[in-house]
Amino acid sequence: MKKASLFFLVTLCVQLLAFVVVAQNPIPKETSKSGVVQVMDAEAFAPKPIDTSVAPTIIAFGSCNKMALPQTMWQHVIANNPQLWIWLGDIIYADTTDTRALAAHYRRLKTTPDYKKMRSRTQIIGVYDDHDYGVNDGCKNHPMKKGAKKCLMDFLDVPMNSPVRKREGAYSSYTFGKGAQRIKFIVLDTRYFRDTLEKDTTRLRRYNPNMQGDILGEAQWRWLEKELRTSTANLNVLCSSIQIISDEHKHEKWGNFPNQRKKLLSLISSVQPKNLLIISGDRHMAEVSKMQLEGLPYPLYDFTSSGLTHIRSGNEEINRYRVGDMILKKNFGVLKITWNGDKPIVAMQVRGQMNELFQEIVVKY
Ligand SMILES: [Fe+2]
Repeated sequence: MKKASLFFLVTLCVQLLAFVVVAQNPIPKETSKSGVVQVMDAEAFAPKPIDTSVAPTIIAFGSCNKMALPQTMWQHVIANNPQLWIWLGDIIYADTTDTRALAAHYRRLKTTPDYKKMRSRTQIIGVYDDHDYGVNDGCKNHPMKKGAKKCLMDFLDVPMNSPVRKREGAYSSYTFGKGAQRIKFIVLDTRYFRDTLEKDTTRLRRYNPNMQGDILGEAQWRWLEKELRTSTANLNVLCSSIQIISDEHKHEKWGNFPNQRKKLLSLISSVQPKNLLIISGDRHMAEVSKMQLEGLPYPLYDFTSSGLTHIRSGNEEINRYRVGDMILKKNFGVLKITWNGDKPIVAMQVRGQMNELFQEIVVKY
């Protein structure tokens, strides 16, 4: 064979191989306003299915992350070496009903260097809240909710064949590890099925309590009960974008639907899952709430961490369930788990810029 023909043949083979590789692993592309197609960062978008074989001992979580503000917290999250990161909503502040714009915001976060670095070493699960769901304080009536869910699923690399993709809503659960030291994470969707909230005209509070309304919807309630009843884990972490225990403030909370809050607490005390801990976000501050539920052999904690890029204004807020301080500094939450046989010891840490430790509360179950 002539040299030129051999060169042509080799080139053809290389091109064919490249075509097959690209066809199997499509790299996201984005068309800019000028119409130029840009090839996106392949590493940032390489799918990362969740591996549940080993239970994490360091779990970090957070919420309320404005993409318009500097993304300075990720390096400090990474400094803790978490094996798992849990999003509790407001992952981005897209506040748009345009799902293409929503997806673009998520893509921007995925290519943010420090977030990308965290994603390369930490597994990521979670759920949206209103600002990445589409509408401030949005609920079941949001017309683009299917699109918002799909954007979240894509962002979290939820496999195409996952049952979470196939059903309505973005709720999910994961059991990590084996034997006595299994940990289960139950992630609730408090938006997709939630009934409307009526604004309070007296201005004493933001919303009137909705006594009849639902937060989780029938299917998710059934699923939650089953997840709690069938859990084989010795530590169960219930993840809710909005606070469950704290009940006296005027913002979004389970307490805006008093009967739903009661129903959830009754479910927990009747099922008595092994060592259940709640984590929540949304509030643009951090705090830990604690209550003793009748029939539950351990205290129930709700550890709130928010926000990563901004905090609320104002200072004090009444919460009769609070233990420790209310922290009004940008923050993320860390759960450090050690085990005494099948009994978990959980250090709940509130951390912030420079990985500063603002508060630690240790629970020995
Ligand atoms: Fe927020």
